[in-house]
Amino acid sequence: MFVLRFCTFYLNLCISALCVQPIPLLRTQRCRSLTLSQEQVSCLLANAFFCTFPRRNSRRMEFSNYPDINFSRLFEGSSQSKQEKLKTLLWYFRRVTQQRPAGLLTYTRQCLQRLPSWSSSEKQFSKLRISCDGSIEDQGYGMLQVDFANRFVGGGVTGSGLVQEEIRFLINPELIAARLFTEALDDNECLIITGAEQFSRYSGYSDTYRWDGNHDDQTPRDEWKRRCTEIVAIDALHYRNFLEQFHAEHMSRELNKAFCGFVRPGVQTENLSAVATGNWGCGAFGGDTRLKAVLQMMAAAEAERDLMYFTFGDADLLRDVHHIHTLITDAYATVGSVFSLLLQYYECVCKKTTRGKPQETLYCFLSERL
Ligand code: APR
Repeated sequence: MFVLRFCTFYLNLCISALCVQPIPLLRTQRCRSLTLSQEQVSCLLANAFFCTFPRRNSRRMEFSNYPDINFSRLFEGSSQSKQEKLKTLLWYFRRVTQQRPAGLLTYTRQCLQRLPSWSSSEKQFSKLRISCDGSIEDQGYGMLQVDFANRFVGGGVTGSGLVQEEIRFLINPELIAARLFTEALDDNECLIITGAEQFSRYSGYSDTYRWDGNHDDQTPRDEWKRRCTEIVAIDALHYRNFLEQFHAEHMSRELNKAFCGFVRPGVQTENLSAVATGNWGCGAFGGDTRLKAVLQMMAAAEAERDLMYFTFGDADLLRDVHHIHTLITDAYATVGSVFSLLLQYYECVCKKTTRGKPQETLYCFLSERL
């Protein structure tokens, strides 16, 4: 442990040699990319470990619209979860001090000023593969991998959070560096990280999360020496009332957010990989899995990308999503026609529901009208 602390401290000292100019900020509403070496990122993270970013300790300061970066909250308390998070991060520091990583990473803030007109879209639905087993990070190889984000990217990774986004940021710790320079995401923005390496394996989830040893990332590198792993952080809305997510403006916001994460302006769509996603916004954020699955299908269709959907063990969801996708494609329904049916569902069903969940499910309503 002493050796590890020394190595991490040494990394901390390297920053003046490796980061010779201020790190540019990825500010709200400004499309910008930032490419750093893995070595530079390791120094930034070592400084976060030692909490050396002074103007980042108070929410009242100039960086109030940025996520926390210092690891101070990780050292508070002695919960098993905090211990497992620290084990995962210390393993990363051990790896990068034993063998300096030689690659690069690119962090891209994408903000769209022109968004689709969902009600008039003529796009047909793209292909869907769906699996009850596996995870985005393990089976999403070569695909655009979705991070179920917070608008402050990384969410509670430096605190007590430990669900999909935090776990991804722990096993690919270079993602955490984005918290230093990425301002909170607006509704028309996402963050794309290309090249983040996975250093650890894990087991469990949330309270049962455990660091599970080394991961030797064999993902090939591109011509920039970045791992060919593309992760996109898109933050869903947090719903405390089940019915509000079916309101037109909320469905449009989620469609726009997902589309912003999936679309690559200027890139030939035939060259775009499938999107690896799942129950985005349906855990901590309280969304409905079946609505979110349809919304993501629509966004993927609009971006002309296929979808790989992981139901994370929910066999009923797999059956329902596969069935509704089959009905939609057999009917040659367009994104616009499905969007109109969603609006009708809100008007005809949700508005008449006084509390709880509507008696008529969304997929029953759609099945009768497709
Ligand atoms: N691969 C595929 N699906 C997964 C994975 C994974 N590795 N991990 C979890 N899931 C599924 C689970 O079914 C989970 O309930 O995704 C669902 C949603 O995961 P959440 O992390 O709860 O996502 P969300 O509801 O969007 O909440 C986002 O939680 O992690 C924080 O910082 C994040 O504040 C943000 C909030």
